[in-house]
Amino acid sequence: MPESDVLDSLVAAVQSSAKYATIAPDFVRRVGVAELHKYPRLKEAVKATKNRLHQVAGAYLTAPPHYEQWLDRLASAPIWDERREVCRSLIQTHTSTRERLPILDEFYRIALAELAPVHSVIDVACGLNPLAIPFMPLAENAVYYACDIYTDLADFLNRAFPLLGVTGTAWAADVTQTIPDQRTDLAIIVKAIPCLQQLDKGIGARLLDGINARHILVSYPAQSLGGSSKGMRANYEAQFTELVTGKGWTIRRYDFATELAFLVTKIKT
Ligand SMILES: C[S@@+](CC[C@H](N)C(=O)[O-])C[C@H]1O[C@@H](n2cnc3c(N)ncnc32)[C@H](O)[C@@H]1O
Repeated sequence: MPESDVLDSLVAAVQSSAKYATIAPDFVRRVGVAELHKYPRLKEAVKATKNRLHQVAGAYLTAPPHYEQWLDRLASAPIWDERREVCRSLIQTHTSTRERLPILDEFYRIALAELAPVHSVIDVACGLNPLAIPFMPLAENAVYYACDIYTDLADFLNRAFPLLGVTGTAWAADVTQTIPDQRTDLAIIVKAIPCLQQLDKGIGARLLDGINARHILVSYPAQSLGGSSKGMRANYEAQFTELVTGKGWTIRRYDFATELAFLVTKIKT
């Protein structure tokens, strides 16, 4: 274990950069410990930690988010249809969520058709996916939990939830350290497992086992951030099959143009 003052210096150096300033400090620390083992010199470890954080989170943000402006735009769209279109345009700023735009009108409607109306949701490693709430078949006043590693994203979502018609709570957490335990009808773990597995190979299995939801919507990208799609569906289907084999869960598979999704039912309704 590196000296704690070295780690403190690493966390401070990483968070002095605006791009990483709002990542939960515990997460920066955890990544920093691993990088300090590989690169004992502080300067190299800081650089390697930033690279890692970019890979698992920063790469998905195309520009610094303007959360205050976004809240104003949501609040000043008085009609629900207009607000839904504001959400659609804000979703563009997160690469992973943006890839869902071409299928957004059908993705949740089709994948969750048998569960509608959904009364409670936990959205794991959510990114901007909660802005897709207007496209989900939720019950009126549904309860929505969401977590990711960004503190400013959590603050934004907590203020946006009332505008999106849900009773919501968002928080910043590293889900590889603490699996959310809120009891819900549905867990949404969309395009998150490959990203989380970059730092923790076993997290996919632990999440699916540990999450306290009757149903879990899991998905995988059908193309890379660079746009290539060669063999991705088959590879991810094989990875998913490994996670669920022998569990006795019911699995439904959905092939969307940009995403491969599976609805896992753990408890029969
Ligand atoms: C590929 S994106 C998926 C985003 C969203 N689920 C979607 O598909 O629209 C991965 C997300 O995981 C988040 N993330 C990465 N590591 C995490 C961790 N250890 N705990 C919680 N969230 C994490 C990133 O910040 C990013 O928003």
